[in-house]
Amino acid sequence: MLVKGFLKKILKKPFLLNYCGKLIVIIKINKKINSIILTAGEKYYIIKCMKIGSDKTMKNFVSASILSADLLRLGSEITKLEENNIDWIHFDVMDGVFVPNISYGIPVLEQIRKKTDMYLDVHLMITDPLKYIKRFDEAGADMITFHVESESDTMETIKALQQTLCQIGLSIKPNTPAEAVFPYIEFADMILVMTVEPGFGGQKFMDMSEKIRKIREYADKHGREDLMIQVDGGIDDKTAPIVRASGANVLVSGSYLFKSDDMERSARLIRGDANAE
Ligand code: DX5
Ligand code: ZN
Repeated sequence: MLVKGFLKKILKKPFLLNYCGKLIVIIKINKKINSIILTAGEKYYIIKCMKIGSDKTMKNFVSASILSADLLRLGSEITKLEENNIDWIHFDVMDGVFVPNISYGIPVLEQIRKKTDMYLDVHLMITDPLKYIKRFDEAGADMITFHVESESDTMETIKALQQTLCQIGLSIKPNTPAEAVFPYIEFADMILVMTVEPGFGGQKFMDMSEKIRKIREYADKHGREDLMIQVDGGIDDKTAPIVRASGANVLVSGSYLFKSDDMERSARLIRGDANAE
């Protein structure tokens, strides 16, 4: 039953390699995150196949924060992201308690999942993320990032995420030191270093270069050259080169991207593509 659920939810055109009794082995290649998803019976595995990190093949991604989109025209805004080769959609969930703002949640994510195959990067700015991991997974998240400052136990939340097909992200606010995520790096796919106080789009960038560098160094030293480091808040063509130079490779952008007259070019600029100019 579980396998059927997986099939329905994540594998649009599964490639069946084997079938014997209850055992089904399926492979999905996700080019966006360079991974292969394999399921066998009730277990599943996500295997990353390209080395990213401090080596030269490290890839940069732009994740568009739809908090800055025209929410009454969300469908066409998403089409625009697809047409402009944006890599990921960044979905900010705010509960009005963990941060002083309330955004949107599970029903909106479900609608987005129906509309697009884009990679859905969900940023939970909520007090008790553990309580909602399963729901956001079922709603179609590809990555779930939660805050170590939340009230949920960090390790328990990681364990809950390991039961899903989502990649695992851990986030820290500007006043939280890099060291707070060190014990969890071995379990994480991505660390999100906030470059504003979470809660609102359009805020001024706070330089977290030192923190990003520390996390990248720690990850490299501990065999996690593939760790993604995301930055979120005030990212534009001026600030993106600063964070990329420190070791960040996933750049969230809301107001800069959605206000741009040429979204594709703006994304190339923040991604740091060679042909950006
Ligand atoms: C802030 C959110 C961000 C925000 C970024 O709490 O997590 O994702 O939308 O917006 P900009 O790029 O406008 O700073
Ligand atoms: Zn965010």
